[in-house]
Amino acid sequence: MSKTYAAITGVAGFVPKDVLTNADLEKMVDTTDEWITTRTGIKERRILREPGKATSDMGMEVLQQLLEKTGTKPEEVELLICATITPDTTFPDTANTILDKAGAKNAFGFDINAACSGFLYALTTAAKFVETGTYRKVVVIGTDKMSSIVNYTDRTTCIIFGDGAGGVMLEPAQDGTGVIDSVLRADGAGREFLHRKAGGSLNPTTSENVANSEHFVFQDGKPVFKAAVTGMVTTVRQVLERNNLSINEIDWLVPHQANMRIISSVGEMLEIPAEKVMVNIQKYGNTTAATLPLCLWEFENKLKKGDTVVLTAFGGGFTWGSTLIRWNYSSPN
Ligand code: UT7
Repeated sequence: MSKTYAAITGVAGFVPKDVLTNADLEKMVDTTDEWITTRTGIKERRILREPGKATSDMGMEVLQQLLEKTGTKPEEVELLICATITPDTTFPDTANTILDKAGAKNAFGFDINAACSGFLYALTTAAKFVETGTYRKVVVIGTDKMSSIVNYTDRTTCIIFGDGAGGVMLEPAQDGTGVIDSVLRADGAGREFLHRKAGGSLNPTTSENVANSEHFVFQDGKPVFKAAVTGMVTTVRQVLERNNLSINEIDWLVPHQANMRIISSVGEMLEIPAEKVMVNIQKYGNTTAATLPLCLWEFENKLKKGDTVVLTAFGGGFTWGSTLIRWNYSSPN
């Protein structure tokens, strides 16, 4: 019998309806549409503004779409892995809240915190449960309400991030399609360049650190930029090499959407044509764990069964990596 892989049998995405444009940001901080567009490629992002709505609510929308698209009943889901750095609460986790809200009563879940690489870490972990025959219906969701940790008086970060969620259903397949291989990496020394200083066990929340804005995202952009390009290019090459594939054999490169200049540099260094690179950063900005599945969701109609797809990401930690997928289905639309 041929090897069982975890095939992606459905993709879903959700973005909140409220749009925050560059023109809006011009009124909030000392910036311009021209600076944001040329330095990042972002024109607008979505913000979850409804009171009482959180990261899990976006995740629940994704789970419900996945159930509908794959003809799955809520009680058939066995495992949900949720990638997020903006959990509803520090504990309990967000995965089990999503399962509860969607009525998936026979599943268990857990969260993975790997920032912008969270979806890759979660997908790789989830695929093992399917490959080994442990579970047959596993959901992976990347969801982040970045607006809950962004300082809208800091022009270096507030222009970048947006809210959103995306996810995939994984099921066993024996036709060679599925999650084939991943190269995942981390370097904890990178934490100084991208982090949230207060609110954890190192610096528990105090009125003083809240007043000092230490519970917001901090980023030293330049070193992150450089490490992101190197990390993504290196791991794309590694995952291709160990699967005896060349760049020309990639049908789609799906890069984390952090900065259009990073995406372009990665594409140029790999010498992959721009039309094979999925991009939607102009509409949603950096949605952290959600960027990769949001790209798959938007480009789903263009994907064909058997396509060779490489996902690549870099984020806080530092964390980074690349995942090779052979696509399972051609969209009916
Ligand atoms: O997703 C997780 C991983 N994250 C990333 O991959 C992000 C990586 N980093 C980046 O995308 C870029 O470094 C940023 C977009 C964050 C910043 O772009 P940059 O080209 O690296 O700009 P910079 O930080 O070097 O700043 C250049 C200038 C500075 O002014 P001076 O010191 O030259 O006078 C900044 O103060 O641009 C200024 N600046 C701005 N000006 C207008 C910074 N932010 C803004 C702004 N509007 N929003």
